[in-house]
Amino acid sequence: MKAAVVSSFDTAPRYADFPDPVAAGRDETVVSVIAAGLHPRVRSQANGSHYTSAGVLPLVPGIDGVGRDPDGNLRYFVLEDDTLGSMAERTVIDTRRSVVLPPGTDPVMVAAAMNPAMSSWIALRQRIQFTAGSSVLVLGATGNAGRMAVQVARLLGAGQVIAAARNAELLAGLPALGATSTLLLDPDASAVAGRLDQAATEVDVVLDYLWGQPAATLLTALIPARADASRPLTWIEIGSVAGQVAPIPSAALRAAGLQMIGSGQGSVPARAILAELPELAGEISQGTFGIDVRAVPLADVEQAWADAARSRQRIVITPGP
Ligand SMILES: NC(=O)c1ccc[n+]([C@@H]2O[C@H](COP(=O)([O-])OP(=O)(O)OC[C@H]3O[C@@H](n4cnc5c(N)ncnc54)[C@H](OP(=O)(O)O)[C@@H]3O)[C@@H](O)[C@H]2O)c1
Repeated sequence: MKAAVVSSFDTAPRYADFPDPVAAGRDETVVSVIAAGLHPRVRSQANGSHYTSAGVLPLVPGIDGVGRDPDGNLRYFVLEDDTLGSMAERTVIDTRRSVVLPPGTDPVMVAAAMNPAMSSWIALRQRIQFTAGSSVLVLGATGNAGRMAVQVARLLGAGQVIAAARNAELLAGLPALGATSTLLLDPDASAVAGRLDQAATEVDVVLDYLWGQPAATLLTALIPARADASRPLTWIEIGSVAGQVAPIPSAALRAAGLQMIGSGQGSVPARAILAELPELAGEISQGTFGIDVRAVPLADVEQAWADAARSRQRIVITPGP
């Protein structure tokens, strides 16, 4: 069969032949892949930089997707980290890690939206006891996952959603998605401090997609601005597009009711993630969340990789009809 094949962590996947998959376990089945999202997580899988990488090549990238099973059902599936991912004409899924989608579902939309939406959905539903009416700040709100986080937080009952990002033009579009206020980031902590509104200073939960310097700068600005220093503030680290390491000031942890945790593969049990799939897939199938998506045929995967590095759209590879 044809697949996107990574033969070196230094080069983009190529459209090439790959051995046909064979289902082995009782719960395994081969699906014809219709759509597979090219998420940042997939890029880091393909270049070997993700923390789950085992360094084994060749591999077919893709951590999730939508496919047709032998009974004709349309399924959204999540794959275990393996050398056979979803960017292939066919792949093997564990049906326990999948959900049957209702007829009429747009497979490209589901493949685009599940991963970015899951990041905030799981963080708010599985990593903390999130209470309706709480306020949420999304750090990195203009990315695909950040834009989803704004919508997910509102759907889950957040009272205030503060969208924080560095791009003023894109930030201005976030109130239309449900943000109740915006915060323009700046490398200078005092500039950020001057822009904090009351909702931001009293925020309960931060969903952090950036980490690196922007996280440290926001903390430096935010902690002294809190009227009640011991008011609980839960900082959930989800992504690290701005840096794998953040210079967090030690005083931030002493001077406030700050708890820092993360949400991702490993910090949430797989069964808890799987339990959330049906409801989230249902919301996406109904069109609850908006995402800007572009479908690209599997044969053009190499070009798609180059485009993904500079595109704001979520690219979805479409091996099948
Ligand atoms: N833990 C999980 O469960 C989970 C699940 C899904 C995704 N993630 C992670 O979440 C992160 C974001 O994913 P995504 O799908 O939203 O990616 P994306 O669509 O590529 O968006 C990335 C965003 O990061 C912003 N950005 C990049 N460098 C920045 C910097 N130095 N300062 C400020 N902003 C910066 C960009 O801002 P501009 O708009 O200004 O360019 C862009 O909006 C990734 O690290 C991804 O791996 C984690």
